[in-house]
Amino acid sequence: MSAPRTVPHHIAIVMDGNGRWATRRFLPRVAGHKQGVESLRRCVKACADRGVAVLTVFAFSSENWNRPQDEVSGLMELLVLALGREVPRLQADGVRLHFVGERQGLSERIRSGLAQAEAATAHNTRLVLNVCFNYGGRWDVAQAAAKLAAQGLPPTELNLDRAMALAHVPDPDLFIRTGGEQRMSNFLLWQSAYSELFFSDRLWPDFDEAALDEAIAAFGRRERRFGQTSAQLGNEAAPAAPRQQTA
Ligand code: IPE
Ligand code: IPE
Ligand code: MG
Repeated sequence: MSAPRTVPHHIAIVMDGNGRWATRRFLPRVAGHKQGVESLRRCVKACADRGVAVLTVFAFSSENWNRPQDEVSGLMELLVLALGREVPRLQADGVRLHFVGERQGLSERIRSGLAQAEAATAHNTRLVLNVCFNYGGRWDVAQAAAKLAAQGLPPTELNLDRAMALAHVPDPDLFIRTGGEQRMSNFLLWQSAYSELFFSDRLWPDFDEAALDEAIAAFGRRERRFGQTSAQLGNEAAPAAPRQQTA
């Protein structure tokens, strides 16, 4: 049997805790989101250096529209700013960007910024970075089902898989959530069926290389059974021979 792969091929992250990071410093919440972009840049580089092939991050959920108006507009501004600043760097680092989510609800300026960033990085092959923006796992299942219905295709698992927003990458191996909460908050509901879950108490702006390494090390200690038994995977010691009765 070949040695188990210890570096996950695909890592997905709910980047949570920006607001609390800022509030603890008596700063406006959007300052936490700005720091969150710095943390994402560090994480992208760390993942590429460790041989991770795909990184998928949750940046703005379908439900985040319900936040105060100034925070929502601050996040939209930050996205535009980050696109302008980060794309040349991603380009130099060989990172291919994909934006995943409902684009209809976004302004024309943002939509064209996303399309330009995707086109500019389309030939990069070192790391795929999926940024889920205006994304929800339920939206994804519903849009995939609607696509199939429009094509007259039955909603089989395979057809749904192919119609989902992350059809261009395999399912995540490791699902990390920072910020201490232990919930999915509508992220990758379909694709994380067999992902290993890792919850970190670190707030996203504080999630550094050491924290990433801790998550990857924990992943390396997990046994992924996909419904099988340990023995089937060749990981279970043979049962001890029954002891000789002496009495
Ligand atoms: C995650 O951080 C980023 C977004 C949801 C955009 P939060 O803003 O949720 O930070 P907390 O959870 O309030 O600390
Ligand atoms: C999930 O975090 C969304 C993102 C990280 C983009 P939230 O902060 O929105 O999740 P809840 O509200 O605590 O479940
Ligand atoms: Mg949060």
